[in-house]
Amino acid sequence: MSKIISVHSFRGGTGKSNTTANVATLLAMEGLRVGVIDTDIQSPGIHVLFGLSEEEMRYSLNDYLWGKCEIQETAHDVTSHLGQGVAGQVLVIPKGQVYLIPSSIKVGEIARVLREGYDVGLLNDGFHELVEKLDLDVLMIDTHPGLNEETLLSISISDALIVVMRPDQQDYQGTGVTVEVARKLDVPKMFIVVNKTPSILDFDDVAAKAQQTYNCEVAAVLPHSDEMMTLASNGVFVARYPDHPITNKLRSLARRLIE
Ligand SMILES: Nc1ncnc2c1ncn2[C@@H]1O[C@H](COP(=O)(O)OP(=O)(O)OP(=O)(O)O)[C@@H](O)[C@H]1O
Ligand SMILES: [Mg+2]
Repeated sequence: MSKIISVHSFRGGTGKSNTTANVATLLAMEGLRVGVIDTDIQSPGIHVLFGLSEEEMRYSLNDYLWGKCEIQETAHDVTSHLGQGVAGQVLVIPKGQVYLIPSSIKVGEIARVLREGYDVGLLNDGFHELVEKLDLDVLMIDTHPGLNEETLLSISISDALIVVMRPDQQDYQGTGVTVEVARKLDVPKMFIVVNKTPSILDFDDVAAKAQQTYNCEVAAVLPHSDEMMTLASNGVFVARYPDHPITNKLRSLARRLIE
């Protein structure tokens, strides 16, 4: 089983955080204990999908990196949040657990990381300690777009990497960079997810083009979806739409990851 799974994209806004939250939730629905860590310290956001407010964040990843707490103290059990939907909507609460390790959303704390940096070795220790202390089956790492110290670290320690891209010429070129780096770092498993695909395109052609371009398995081609846009990060899609075609494609991806 893949213990550490990173989700990357070279460019921003491809759908990394949504993919991370959805796959984590689907794995928890399979009964697994899943950690989700937001390493997008410069522009964190995945806590919004899990409905974790700023007031509820006891400790963040920043506190751990500054030696204020243990890494396991930054973990928030957000499993029950997945069942909180719009009135009258019955949502699926996973059998397993989802623990979120958020990055701080406080201006001063983001500025401090940008100004002073942090010890990347400590982040590496934190990943492994989280798996051990929380007895996780899987740790998923959501990242900042492009290549920087924490993305390189997360690629290098991952058992599996999901590279998210849109069918856009800028993404095609940038994804090539991420795939090349991942190959140099010998990531055992790598999957491409093509997201926000316009419905007028032939999805098989899109998959074939990405597969040929990167010589890498295309695990899912997902449509640009009005439901996803309307949800607008106000929840985790697969918990809201458990039988949606997008959920079924993401479920296949989740199962491939833990094979
Ligand atoms: N398949 C889709 N169809 C429509 N909208 C989508 C789809 N996937 C994601 N989105 C929307 O795109 C926006 C960006 O998604 P998300 O935050 O997951 O991307 P990201 O790659 O994490 O962005 P960043 O690089 O800023 O971290 C969100 O508003 C989300 O709701
Ligand atoms: Mg994101």
